Amino acid sequence: MGAPLIAARGIVKSYGHVEALRGADFAVRPGEVVALIGDNGAGKSTLAKILSGVERPDTGMIEIDGRPVAFGSVEEARGAGVETVYQDLALCAELSPSANYFLGRERLKPGLLGMLGVLDNAAMRRETREACERLGVRLKSETAPVSTLSGGQRQGVAVARAVGWARRAVFMDEPTAALGVVQTRRVLDLIRSVRDSGVAVVLISHNMQDVMAVSDRVEVLRLGRRVARFDTARVSMEELVGAMTGALEQDDPDGRAEGGPGRDAAGADERAAGPGRDAAVDEAGDGPGRDAAGADEQEDGR
Ligand SMILES: Nc1ncnc2c1ncn2[C@@H]1O[C@H](COP(=O)(O)OP(=O)(O)O)[C@@H](O)[C@H]1O
Ligand SMILES: [Mg+2]
Repeated sequence: MGAPLIAARGIVKSYGHVEALRGADFAVRPGEVVALIGDNGAGKSTLAKILSGVERPDTGMIEIDGRPVAFGSVEEARGAGVETVYQDLALCAELSPSANYFLGRERLKPGLLGMLGVLDNAAMRRETREACERLGVRLKSETAPVSTLSGGQRQGVAVARAVGWARRAVFMDEPTAALGVVQTRRVLDLIRSVRDSGVAVVLISHNMQDVMAVSDRVEVLRLGRRVARFDTARVSMEELVGAMTGALEQDDPDGRAEGGPGRDAAGADERAAGPGRDAAVDEAGDGPGRDAAGADEQEDGR
């Protein structure tokens, strides 16, 4: 246990003169919910896009199961079991919920004599309806285009789709922004059950109550860098807000203070002695011989 499913190290990404990410690190393990938080413009969405194949980093490294990967497309990330709920949802407005749900992965009826079958629309509609209803989203029609749905319903379709396909990890960028109280609660329940099935969940959210309620760990981005990590059970909302705004500074959020090969073991031990904070898992690893001592044990839970 303990090895990250997805790890990012030193990710740099600029858009023209804007440096969205300036050496960002991140990690999530199988079966954990990590909240990725930070102020507007901190780089959360950019990082999620890079880790789900939408954007390419300028420099930096992404690893899956400890092996370097370079996602060239969303399809490649999906092939690795990684799904995403984008902040702008990325649904095709003119298509139905079920066409969106199965876009690019349509289900076919088995054809005669092994020939390619025809689309199994009935099955796809049923599955879409069931997936949405699990989230409390009742579709008046499975065939009406998504553009006719409310913002909350659209968000439900996007969340249902990502969760329905994710085999290893799901990124959710502000998945409850358009949802009411009941639907939000269902999404949080869904996040827990996805997590319990062994899939990693990365929740990007402004809602600190949701973050506290559902996450196992929190990673904080500020100005394009990870500035703090916490175990949710041992952090207060004030500390989270402090880390986001820069009022609270965490020393050495990456365990890199000393530099050099032995640093992880030393850094991890020091942090373990501290009273509350610091998930202190040195996921990003930093090469062979990493985590000589204890980093894994410190991790709570799974
Ligand atoms: N496609 C883009 N073109 C230009 N600038 C961008 C683009 N995407 C993001 N940015 C900029 O990068 C920074 C980080 O943005 P973003 O990752 O969306 O932050 P967050 O999701 O934390 O609010 C912001 O300054 C934003 O304006
Ligand atoms: Mg964003």
